[in-house]
Amino acid sequence: MGVAGLASAALVAALVALCSAARSDAPRGVAVGFVFDPKARCEPQCTHGGICIRNDTCYCSKGYEGESCQYAHCYPKCKNGGTCLRPGKCRCPAGFGGRFCQKVTCDGGCWNGECVAVNGVAKCICSSSWTGSKCQEAICPQGCTNGGTCVAPGVCSCPEGWLGGACHVAVCTKSCWNGGKCISPDKCRCRAAFSGPLCEKKLRFC
Ligand SMILES: *[C@@H]1O[C@H](CO)[C@@H](O)[C@H](O)[C@H]1NC(C)=O
Repeated sequence: MGVAGLASAALVAALVALCSAARSDAPRGVAVGFVFDPKARCEPQCTHGGICIRNDTCYCSKGYEGESCQYAHCYPKCKNGGTCLRPGKCRCPAGFGGRFCQKVTCDGGCWNGECVAVNGVAKCICSSSWTGSKCQEAICPQGCTNGGTCVAPGVCSCPEGWLGGACHVAVCTKSCWNGGKCISPDKCRCRAAFSGPLCEKKLRFC
């Protein structure tokens, strides 16, 4: 213990205890919790402001414990597997935050869901109709066909030329004639006996 440490609160506490021991008639080492031996040596050395009061006995500063005062303790305790770095300061595992690691944090957030701890792992639990690690993907139960994309629950965004809830309806800018059917953008499927882009031609049979 160097001179630099003499101002430590722990030493003051030790000296107070020494003084009361000196005033007391009780035998040394009995009336007080410890007797401070200025020549004491502690191996390993006392850390975190702890003082060596007897050979291999450290008196730790508030907030530390262990043989050489090497362990910090945190009150309240670090939650969710956090480790106490120094008194009142927890280091939190990934997915947790807050002073005591009590808060669950999902990286990137949960867009349409809630961040919860599942078996110690932060995870987004999505509202119905949403999926993905951040609940960022909408679910279209009807499916989006012909290159459509699901942009909101049950809502497809369709490429040009397609319409309908599942982008399943082709659009022919000019309608098909003679009972022909629009089967893809601007493409008619004609009934027998008709042809041409719009089924406008009647085929001649011999
Ligand atoms: C403490 O240890 C030192 C050497 O490591 C020794 O000389 C001394 O007598 C010890 N003190 C007591 C009170 O046992």
